[in-house]
Amino acid sequence: MSIFWFITTLLLLHSCTPGVGMDHDIVNGEKSIPHSRPYMVYIYDKQRRAACGGFLVREDFVLTAAHCKTNHLKVYLGVDDTNHLPEGIEVDAFPHESFVNKKPGDDIMLLKLKTPATLNKTVKIIALPETNREKIPSNCMAMGWGWKEHNEFTPSSVLREVNLTLLDSENCAIPHTICTQEKAGPTQGDSGGPLICGNVPQGIVSYYIPNESTRFLTMYTKISHYLPWIHKIMNAPL
Ligand SMILES: *[C@@H]1O[C@H](CO)[C@@H](O)[C@H](O)[C@H]1NC(C)=O
Ligand SMILES: *[C@@H]1O[C@H](CO)[C@@H](O)[C@H](O)[C@H]1NC(C)=O
Ligand SMILES: *[C@@H]1O[C@H](CO)[C@@H](O)[C@H](O)[C@H]1NC(C)=O
Repeated sequence: MSIFWFITTLLLLHSCTPGVGMDHDIVNGEKSIPHSRPYMVYIYDKQRRAACGGFLVREDFVLTAAHCKTNHLKVYLGVDDTNHLPEGIEVDAFPHESFVNKKPGDDIMLLKLKTPATLNKTVKIIALPETNREKIPSNCMAMGWGWKEHNEFTPSSVLREVNLTLLDSENCAIPHTICTQEKAGPTQGDSGGPLICGNVPQGIVSYYIPNESTRFLTMYTKISHYLPWIHKIMNAPL
C-alpha cells in the first residue's frame, strides 16, 4: 500500500504548491508540433486549479483517468497553448465503478460532452484498440501539459511529448496495467493522457513510482482490457 498510496496521493492532490502538485508533465520530452495531436484534450477544473490530459475517442466522449475526477471539470479541444484556451465544454463524468480513490487500479473514466465536438483540422478522434488479443508494439509515446521536472512545479503551457519503450505489456505490479521505466516520461499534470503505441492509444497515464536511480516506473491503465466497459458506457441509451 505504501509507495503506491503515496504516489497516487500525489496524483490526487490538487495543489499548486511546489512538490505537491497533482497529476502527472512530460520530463525530458520535447514540444509537440502545434496541433499535430488533434485528439489530445486539456481537462481543467478552474475552481481547484487541477489539470489533466485526455483524448477524444468519439465526438461526444473523452477518455481519461478516474483519479482526474473533480466536480467542475471542463474539457478544451484543439488546444496547443493553455494560455489561449477556447471555451470549455461541460461534461458528465463516468469513472470506472471499481476505481477507489487513492488506490491504483481501474483508473479509467469517460467524460460525455454535453455539446459534442465539431471535428476540424485541430480537433480529431483517435480510434481505440480493436481487441485485447493483439500484441502491443513497444514503441510508444506519451504527451501532456504537465511538469518538465519531476520535483519542481514547472507545468508546460504548450503540449509536450516523449518517446518511450514499453517495459511490460501485461500486468505491471497490478492487473490490467502496462508500464514504462525511463528517465523520461509523464509526471505531475500528465495524468489521463494517452500512451500511444504504434498509432493506437493503448494506455492511460495513471501513476508512477519514483526510483532512486532516477528512473520512474510509470503505470498506464491498459485500455484494451476495458473495451467492453468503454463500449457499454458509450452505447448506453440516453
Ligand atoms: C476547430 O475547433 C476548435 C474547438 O471547437 C476551435 O477552437 C477551432 O477554432 C476550430 N478550428 C477551425 C479551423 O475551425
Ligand atoms: C520519436 O520518434 C520519432 C521516430 O523515430 C521521431 O521522429 C521523433 O522526433 C521522436 N520524438 C521525440 C519527442 O523524441
Ligand atoms: C529501480 O530501477 C532499477 C532498474 O530498473 C531496478 O533494478 C530497481 O529494483 C528499482 N528500485 C526500486 C526501489 O524500485
